Amino acid sequence: MFANSFFTEQILHVDKARTPPRPVHARGSGAHGYFVVTHDVSKYTSAAVFNGIGKKTPVFGRFSPATPNLGGPELNRDIKGLAVKYYTEEGNLDHLCLHLPVYMYRNPTDFDFLVRAQRRNPKTNIMDQTVAWDYRTNRPDIFHLLFWLYSDYTIPNGYRKMDIFPIHAYEIYNKKGERFYVRFNYRTEQGLANLTNVQAQAIASQDQDYFTRDLYNAIENKNYPSWTLEMDVIPFRDLKKLNYNPFDVTKLWEKGTYKTVTIGRLVLDRNVDNWFREVEQSAFNPSNLVPGISGPMDFLFQSRVVSYRDAQDYRLGVNHNKIDINLPKYAKTYLRDGNPPTRYNMKDAPNYLPNSFNGPVPYIDENAPSRRLLVLESYAVDFGNVAEFYNNVLKTEEERIRLARNIAADLVLVQEPVKTRVIKMLSLINETLAERVAAAAVPPTPKKPLMATKETYAPLARCIEVFRP
Ligand code: HEM
Repeated sequence: MFANSFFTEQILHVDKARTPPRPVHARGSGAHGYFVVTHDVSKYTSAAVFNGIGKKTPVFGRFSPATPNLGGPELNRDIKGLAVKYYTEEGNLDHLCLHLPVYMYRNPTDFDFLVRAQRRNPKTNIMDQTVAWDYRTNRPDIFHLLFWLYSDYTIPNGYRKMDIFPIHAYEIYNKKGERFYVRFNYRTEQGLANLTNVQAQAIASQDQDYFTRDLYNAIENKNYPSWTLEMDVIPFRDLKKLNYNPFDVTKLWEKGTYKTVTIGRLVLDRNVDNWFREVEQSAFNPSNLVPGISGPMDFLFQSRVVSYRDAQDYRLGVNHNKIDINLPKYAKTYLRDGNPPTRYNMKDAPNYLPNSFNGPVPYIDENAPSRRLLVLESYAVDFGNVAEFYNNVLKTEEERIRLARNIAADLVLVQEPVKTRVIKMLSLINETLAERVAAAAVPPTPKKPLMATKETYAPLARCIEVFRP
């Protein structure tokens, strides 16, 4: 039996059947579909994918909760993602979107620390709210996102019923090379619908796969989920008139400074045949752009250009863009060899550049703006947008009370001095909010935290241990 090659292949294959999961957004569900242009936006962008009313482009979309591991919970109070790959005739255009319209921070070096601070404690392997809030209060530019996160907007009633945003301000340009700065918004056509904590927990106790099941069933039942894609537009010439930084991903654009233009509809109408092949092996990269869309100009975006490619080289290998689900319609390349898939490996086409034998020529868009905008960034923090969210985006006192309750539910487990610091920072935004949170963030009796102080994160002690000669 042990000399039987069928047996050997079976038993050895299963040992290697796992690929590294994504470092964030590990758990995913996906579907195929199309994008159809419904409005003429040629005066803003020359991108072929957004031009010609009625034009259809195939897409693939992958939904994910941001923090859980592969197989982790979908119904937690967490950011949800949708990554969309447009297979355009000019190459792939990827939009990586979150379901809240602002991001956590602006300084590119913050990613690793932020991710660790939201993760399980390295000693106990338990989620550690003290660490999360310690980080947050030391990097208060995250507060705007936190207010969205703890509000009614955060737990959608399934992936179909949420809006989604690529967040960054993208530079786009038309055939004359005129530049515009836009924020894309995908608005759900199913109607925005959210769950409270109690509703989400009740569903999760019955169905751990609620979001994935809802998406899959809707598509199987031909109830295809769709989103209207629109963009908020500011022309280049108006940038100087703004009294705020439109490239700051932690803030929203101010009302009255932009106009909103509809582009078309995103429709998902086909479930995958094989989850691993299509969903797990999909690789989205925000730097996959097409002529007519030069992309975001901020520093955070520059850091993403590096990060995704590296993550995918590690996770799927150097030829990840030659995996079927990632393969652009238009792909002539000088990349050769490496681990499979190499596909045709460009057969005998010249493998060096420049060459005199009709090898692919890098594309140069004659209409692309010849001057590049340099964004000078400041990392100063103000709570203007947070106060605006609290006072005006939240419309009712009930919404504000639920926000306070949701923050308090997490603060119960937070230790001093972090807890007092959180309340103090909340009081800078609104006194009543701070009082409500302080009153509700009381540990249940007996007044012992779930874990003794000694067992929680003790960074200094650990460092001394590790670095002692
Ligand atoms: C506006 C800011 C951001 C948005 C909207 C965003 C969105 C997303 C989404 C939707 C995914 C899941 C992709 C998928 O389904 O495969 C993802 C994955 C990921 N993100 Fe971000 N993200 C942002 C910022 C960042 C930053 C600043 C970094 C690091 C510099 C980063 C690094 C990653 C990495 C490494 C992955 C996993 C990629 C893979 O393995 O395929 N993200 N992001």
